[in-house]
Amino acid sequence: MTKRVAILISGGGSNMVSLVESMTGNHPARPVLVMSNDPNAGGLAKARALNVPTYAVDHKPFGKDRAGFEAALQDALEKARPDIICLAGFMRILTPAFTSQWEGRMLNIHPSLLPKYKGLHTHARALEAGDKEHGCSVHEVTAELDGGPILGQAKLAIDPDDTPDTLAARLLPLEHKLYPQVLQRYAAGDRTPLFIDG
Ligand code: GRF
Repeated sequence: MTKRVAILISGGGSNMVSLVESMTGNHPARPVLVMSNDPNAGGLAKARALNVPTYAVDHKPFGKDRAGFEAALQDALEKARPDIICLAGFMRILTPAFTSQWEGRMLNIHPSLLPKYKGLHTHARALEAGDKEHGCSVHEVTAELDGGPILGQAKLAIDPDDTPDTLAARLLPLEHKLYPQVLQRYAAGDRTPLFIDG
C-alpha cells in the first residue's frame, strides 16, 4: 500500500524538493501535501510546480497560542490523511501534544551529527568546538527537541577555512541525499539506521 507523505516547511524547501522528486516509480510513498507556517515560503511555489497540493497556516496570527496553531495544522493534516510526516526545514517548535499524535510517523532532518548540537546555529557551534567533522541527521520526532531515534546520518570533513555559511552550503547536498534514502526505507518499514560519508 502506497504510503501518503505530508511535508512541512518554513522556507525554500530544498529538502522538500529532494523528497518529492524521490517519490517516483516503485518508491513505496507519494507526497500528498506540502504545508508551511509561512504563506510566503518559497517552497510552496516549488511544491505547486511539482503538482503537490499545498497549504499554509500562518503562525503569526496565533501569537503564543501554540495549541491553536497546531490545531490548524492538525485540521489540514486530517484532510490529507498522511501516513508519514516529514519536517523539512520546518522552523516552529511543536508541542508534545502535537508530536505525541504523530510519534512513530514523523521524521525530521537536523543539520548536525545528533546528539551533538540540538537546536539552532549548529554549523557555528561545530566550528567553535573545533570539530573535525560535521553532518546531518534524520530522526524520528518525539517530544524532546531533536531527540528522537536516529534513522540516518551523513558526515563531511570540516575544512580549516570553513565558515558557518560555507559549511551549511556543503552540507545541504548531503541532506538532499540522506533524507530521501531514509524516507524510502522508513516507508518500506525499515528503521535500520543508514550512515553515509560525504
Ligand atoms: C536545512 O539546513 C535543514 O537542515 C534545516 O533547514 C535548512 C533549510 O532547509 N532544517 P530547506 O532548504 O528549507 O529544506
